[in-house]
Amino acid sequence: MIIDKEKMDIKRRFFLKKMLKLFFTFVALIFSFLGLSLLKPANPKKKEYSYYEIPEDKIPKEGVKKINIEIGNLQKSLKIYLVNDGDSIIALSPVCTHLGCFVNFDKNSNEFICPCHGGKYDSEGKVLKCPPKEPLQRLPVKIENKKIFVGIKI
Ligand code: FES
Repeated sequence: MIIDKEKMDIKRRFFLKKMLKLFFTFVALIFSFLGLSLLKPANPKKKEYSYYEIPEDKIPKEGVKKINIEIGNLQKSLKIYLVNDGDSIIALSPVCTHLGCFVNFDKNSNEFICPCHGGKYDSEGKVLKCPPKEPLQRLPVKIENKKIFVGIKI
């Protein structure tokens, strides 16, 4: 009878040790996953805007002008549209929001027209004719010391 009780105690201790090991292994795994997620940047793909100065002669006095922005460190240039609406300067991406073709500006109709599927936008980039559902992307513009800078995500 006493031997049976000792055997039961040994089994119970063995079972408790196993359960404690399992519990601590589980807790260690959770903490290591949490630790790894805290070490990772919040959104590694998120890019910040880099601002590029627009030379004064490229800024339209009125209406729409297509300009190149030289990205010196990447040795490439990007085309954007600058719009002077009389009150402010707007910078628009030329990329159609339907499937990514480059839009052209038509001075006669004062519209951006996509050559791929005939999408149209007004001079502020708002959709006039489908298939695009979203307006042309506006790029941030800031003015510092009377100079205009446009933000581009590279
Ligand atoms: S890509 Fe411009 S309308 Fe389709």
